[in-house]
Amino acid sequence: MKIRLDILRTKRGGGSYLQSVVFEYSDPKTTVAAALTEINSSDQYKDTEGKSVDKIKWECSCLQKKCGACAMVIGGKPCLACDSVLSDFGERVRIEPLRKFPVIEDLIVDRSAIFDRLRDMQIWFEQQAQNDETSTDTAYEASRCLQCGCCLEVCPNFCVDENFVGMSAAVPASRLIAQTDKAQAKQLYELYKKRVYEGCAKSLACRNICPAGIDIDGLLVSSNAAAVWKRKKKRG
Ligand code: SF4
Ligand code: SF4
Ligand code: FES
Repeated sequence: MKIRLDILRTKRGGGSYLQSVVFEYSDPKTTVAAALTEINSSDQYKDTEGKSVDKIKWECSCLQKKCGACAMVIGGKPCLACDSVLSDFGERVRIEPLRKFPVIEDLIVDRSAIFDRLRDMQIWFEQQAQNDETSTDTAYEASRCLQCGCCLEVCPNFCVDENFVGMSAAVPASRLIAQTDKAQAKQLYELYKKRVYEGCAKSLACRNICPAGIDIDGLLVSSNAAAVWKRKKKRG
């Protein structure tokens, strides 16, 4: 089998161009990550214009859909390179970096905005998490977030320079809301309301894109339910 990879390459410091490489493979389960690794490990590859292919810069760590480092746009859709099978794309596919973040080089982007926002919003436990059957389910679901940024790529409301933090922060926020101490719950909810819930248009464009398969609808519903419950408690 063979596929033409159209790879958007960006030089460090600027300047982009599309480089096409024909990649041959025999295992139908070969992934984009495996193709990039093989191309980088050989000096033999030439592009479709006969030029040599400099090492393609991309990030990976686990190669098992666990770390989120290899998130990129493949065939127009944000996904993980280690979870994207070449044979699903036919004879040609375009590979680009995530577009919502500053590009560092080739397929590597600066996703520090994701982590900065978690820090700014103080999305961490300062005391023992409260556990019951419902909150444990929510916590488990939220803990599967890879912080890959795929959900931000498709979110019409997310921009790296603006206040709305997107689903990559809403997911861990939902865990804290479900499991936090009641005394701190209202304060947390008010903090998250401005940057998470009020900015989300509930379009659910992010719902089916999450490579971890997180139940985003369920987490939004559980966060809303927790907020309503807290308002009722306040009135009562
Ligand atoms: S919610 Fe899903 S798509 Fe968004 S950052 Fe977490 S794992 Fe990635
Ligand atoms: S539901 Fe829509 S607006 Fe809200 S985070 Fe997902 S994509 Fe963005
Ligand atoms: S390398 Fe870890 S998710 Fe792909």
